[in-house]
Amino acid sequence: MNEEPVVDIRNLTVAFKGGRGKVNAVNGVDLQVGRGEVVALLGESGSGKSVTLRSLLRLHPEQRTEMAGSIKVLGQDVMALKGAALTGFRGKTVSMIFQEPLLALDPVYTVGAQITEGIRKHEPGVSKAAAEERALEALKRVRIPSPERRLKAYPHEMSGGMRQRAMIALALACNPQVLLADEPTTALDATVQIQILLLLRELQRELGLSVILVTHDIGVAVEVADRIAVMYAGRIVETGPVRDVIRNPSHPYTKGLLTFRAHGAMKGARLDAIPGAPPDLSKLPPGCAFAPRCKQVGEGCDTIQPEPVTLGPAHWARCLKLAEAAE
Ligand SMILES: Nc1ncnc2c1ncn2[C@@H]1O[C@H](COP(=O)(O)OP(=O)(O)OP(=O)(O)O)[C@@H](O)[C@H]1O
Ligand SMILES: [Mg+2]
Repeated sequence: MNEEPVVDIRNLTVAFKGGRGKVNAVNGVDLQVGRGEVVALLGESGSGKSVTLRSLLRLHPEQRTEMAGSIKVLGQDVMALKGAALTGFRGKTVSMIFQEPLLALDPVYTVGAQITEGIRKHEPGVSKAAAEERALEALKRVRIPSPERRLKAYPHEMSGGMRQRAMIALALACNPQVLLADEPTTALDATVQIQILLLLRELQRELGLSVILVTHDIGVAVEVADRIAVMYAGRIVETGPVRDVIRNPSHPYTKGLLTFRAHGAMKGARLDAIPGAPPDLSKLPPGCAFAPRCKQVGEGCDTIQPEPVTLGPAHWARCLKLAEAAE
């Protein structure tokens, strides 16, 4: 990466305070995303993928959340944003699409009204007529057939795939530079999934978007992303260019994930087939959180927090065994 990264997350920690103590959901994430780069965030349920994404938009319940570290987007300090600056930032600089469009779209308004409203909320200077014009453009951009008619449709009148297109249109209506996609195709049929992924990739290239894509599907990551980041218990345990991580997976957890691939079942392979359970985030061990499930566990793994070990250009993993091998 020659120029400054568009997204620059350093040592991010996020903890939620609650009745049963503190949930340490994110524990020191470093993640940079360049202009026009697509990073796939992989990891099993509860590893902190969604919390990391939501941190970028500061969507956590403020009273119960402790956040530390630094998040910069295009040089802006996201942690310091407040009030109108935060509203303007959401949607205009960074936008997000979710697994379930029905949660993002309001059932009582037409799709056109929601996109128009979204534009005017984030850009108060835009007239209603101009916003309506842009809403139509937004629907055309996501290749919705008969866009004029769809503007007047309610979300429930659309198919799942069409709703997902409408949500992408809504997310891109204010021309953000960063798109966060949290499992955007998991709820769809296989054929529709592929259409939506192709659309996302086309739009990403056309608009030069920086994208963080959360997925459970390694096949999707390989298809769409430039880089993979693997999360475990709120940490990135390995990251690198897609080809390098696939050819030379180095963290035992990544290796576990990729054994599916050796069995030729990459498309649709889910990540939850590694024996054992993820750790309790309210009492994380001092050492490597994967140690209790790790086949290669050895002396020190349960007490020492492994530092990143460089494996190639932009490819590193956090594992004590790798560090020892490199010595
Ligand atoms: N607002 C919240 N309050 C308390 N705990 C939360 C909150 N949001 C997330 N968590 C907890 O943080 C941990 C990480 O959650 P997160 O949603 O990031 O997982 P994930 O990797 O996205 O998993 P999945 O693949 O199931 O979507 C989980 O234990 C979750 O219960
Ligand atoms: Mg999630």
